[in-house]
Amino acid sequence: MGFPDTRLRRLRQTASLRAMVQETSLASSSLIAPIFVIPGAGEKKPISSMPGQFHFSADTAAGEAQELLTHGINAVLLFGIPPVKDEKGESSCDEHGVVQEAIRAIKKVAPDIVVIADLCFCEYTSHGHCGVLVHGDVHNDLTLIETKKQAVSLAQAGADIIAPSGMMDGMVASIRQALDAKNMPHVAILSYSAKYASAYYGPFREAAQSAPSFGDRRTYQMNPANSDEAMREIEEDIKEGADIVMVKPALAYLDIIRRAKDRFAMPLAAYNVSGEYAMIKAAAEKKLIDGERVMMETLLSIKRAGADMIITYFAKEAAPLLR
Ligand code: PBG
Ligand code: ZN
Repeated sequence: MGFPDTRLRRLRQTASLRAMVQETSLASSSLIAPIFVIPGAGEKKPISSMPGQFHFSADTAAGEAQELLTHGINAVLLFGIPPVKDEKGESSCDEHGVVQEAIRAIKKVAPDIVVIADLCFCEYTSHGHCGVLVHGDVHNDLTLIETKKQAVSLAQAGADIIAPSGMMDGMVASIRQALDAKNMPHVAILSYSAKYASAYYGPFREAAQSAPSFGDRRTYQMNPANSDEAMREIEEDIKEGADIVMVKPALAYLDIIRRAKDRFAMPLAAYNVSGEYAMIKAAAEKKLIDGERVMMETLLSIKRAGADMIITYFAKEAAPLLR
């Protein structure tokens, strides 16, 4: 049976019919809002590379989290910009570090929000690489030692989920082991499992002051040409005990998201990264596109590809349109 018996336009005739047969939908509860934290108090400074995003101090970050909850956004992902950087990124493990303070401030006023702490070193190291350098490259196993310290510190401050983004081999196993050894088996791990060496991170690196001072991240982040390797990365993280796995970036990697969802029965996150956000903002600003519609279509495409949750700078803007 085909045309003229089959007429796919029949179910597109009215808004109600279209809604009834809609296959994918977005909910604010599956959006995760990134928050950039800086030292100090009472700060809320616009980030020039990411219009509509801000640098918050711990207290204003807490206020932002409360506001996000009222929009139905249940989770935040924290990044810190510390006052000082050093060779090893020691301040990332400081009990009174920027993120640790923000976690406590947020939990105090919004205990129900899921606090996810990004775990990496690039914002904290003087060289901007994601771990300990030896002969100009990030040393995997030495970085794991620091990774454990940072995980314990973030969890002790009250993070619900630790999200390692450094693409070190064994990072998930190391974190699980460290958390369990400190009696924190309830703290979950969201691993940046398949994170590509992408040019789409540009605006973030400006916002987080985390650009590498030399070279690039290609010895640890993935080659954008590879898909099988992403499956191996994800599989490995699952074996090591990841509770949630991630594909990052999202848009140029929708095929990877779909493949991961089909292959692993796991909660899957996708990161709609800074460059994806900035492109839409810039085009909308120039009136080349309808920014709001492109935002919603983009988020829907990531969901349709198979992501259960989306980390996105659009969270606050999109949520009110979803309720
Ligand atoms: C750091 C980190 C990056 C992002 C999240 N964590 C940048 C990088 O790897 O250089 C990118 C997020 C974005 O672009 O929105 N490990
Ligand atoms: Zn990093």
